[in-house]
Amino acid sequence: MNLPDLKKAKERTNKEVKTYKNPMYASDKFNGKKYFLRTYGCQMNEHDGEQIEAILEHFGMTPSVEMEDADVIVLNTCAIRENAHDKVFGYLGRIKHLKKERPDVIVAIGGCMSQEEGVVQELIKKHPYINIVFGTHNIHELGQLLIEANSKKQDIEVYSMEGDIYEDIPYKRASNITAWVNIIYGCDKFCTYCIVPYTRGKERSRKLADVVKEVATLKEQGYQEVTLLGQNVNAYGHDLKDGYEFADLLEEVAKTNIPRVRFVTSHPWNFTDKMIEIIAKYPNIMPYIHLPLQSGSDRILKLMGRKYTKDEYINLFKKMKERIPNVAITTDIIVGFPGETKEDFKNTLEVVDTCKFDGAYTFIFSPREGTPASKMKDETPLEEKEERLYILNEKINNYAKESNEKLLSKTVPVLLLGVSEKDSTKLYGYTDTMKLVNVKGSPNDIGKIIPVYITEAKSFSLDGEEVKESIKN
Ligand code: SAH
Ligand code: SF4
Ligand code: F3S
Repeated sequence: MNLPDLKKAKERTNKEVKTYKNPMYASDKFNGKKYFLRTYGCQMNEHDGEQIEAILEHFGMTPSVEMEDADVIVLNTCAIRENAHDKVFGYLGRIKHLKKERPDVIVAIGGCMSQEEGVVQELIKKHPYINIVFGTHNIHELGQLLIEANSKKQDIEVYSMEGDIYEDIPYKRASNITAWVNIIYGCDKFCTYCIVPYTRGKERSRKLADVVKEVATLKEQGYQEVTLLGQNVNAYGHDLKDGYEFADLLEEVAKTNIPRVRFVTSHPWNFTDKMIEIIAKYPNIMPYIHLPLQSGSDRILKLMGRKYTKDEYINLFKKMKERIPNVAITTDIIVGFPGETKEDFKNTLEVVDTCKFDGAYTFIFSPREGTPASKMKDETPLEEKEERLYILNEKINNYAKESNEKLLSKTVPVLLLGVSEKDSTKLYGYTDTMKLVNVKGSPNDIGKIIPVYITEAKSFSLDGEEVKESIKN
């Protein structure tokens, strides 16, 4: 048993870039069997899920639609808020029943919850049938852990800190149109409310050449879009010795001529003018920036350890709007941080009124064990926090609708991704500014960027019609 230790998360380790090799054997044990993977959490976790699937399929396994039919169940967990934990514990209840009927099913738990020492102990106490616990730093070991797994033994192999960067772990990408590309792992910011630096370790940037090679290969394979991933993409490069920063990486990625380049998430603190310049310069870098605000109160921002003030945020926001034509900016906001007063919340609303965001993810503060904010005095009742969230969401939704309405009767480029789940006669896709559009069209157009005339604007989506070439001319 190798349990993670949260206290070690702040220690820096030396990283190395290593090449991953798939285990060559075990096909007899798993060939033809079925796996069921459930992923919770952010894009990074989704992308890790794509690696987990590739590792399982290398063994000759195929995905199962129903968890009940699977021979191997993997839960790729998230720890960001309490409800993420609850979902996993809820799901484990279902697995418990299955294990009673079919004790040979192998259950593996990975992702960010596995990196929390107390949680792992709770997991294995409440659900002793779990076979494998692996972490975010050792996905490369999953194959080996499965080979060794048997129904009687429990194997817990979680590294406290980040390990090395493993290049060449295969991915089973969920889409053949858009792809995620990791550029930096981990987070050094230690915002006082956040568990991510503990579960994902210190910042480690991939080499620029490795990222560019991956994007160039994706382009050759016909991908239309890449999203560069990191908890803090603009921290890219500070741990490398070759002097590259995120702006340089963005530029090199744009030069591959892949049609669309996106990136997420940007921290307002180290967003340089050079980054803004590069985004404005290359038409294939999409004019869309997710720029988490978290709070509009300087007092709360300080308690959160965000390293910027309300005015600094607004100035950066305005600079982006001035210099990047047509840019859309979305944000994340937390309400009910410990000690947040009515006045602090009012400040947040004021920033929202100033910035009129294109959209926002909003959350009620959730104390995460081991983080400084979880020990701060928090006297605001939950009902009050819920009311603040409601007021904030009303505002956010109105501005989102307003920003969508600006596109009415305009023609915008839309990358079509698939058939709409709600209406099978329609296709869905995203504008360059990351707005969801439903369009009547032929499935033959999926994977193409087409001009769409916007006919209706709602808070969370747009409706439109494909502009035929003859109309365009
Ligand atoms: N790296 C990104 C976001 C990571 S988590 C960034 O720095 O912005 C995504 C969002 O979850 C955060 O932006 C924050 O708004 C929210 N979040 C993180 N920890 C939280 C907590 N303990 N309670 C409530 N929301 C939280
Ligand atoms: Fe969490 Fe802050 Fe890092 Fe984002 S920047 S992952 S909110 S610690
Ligand atoms: Fe969740 Fe881990 Fe992502 S905590 S949000 S899966 S980095």
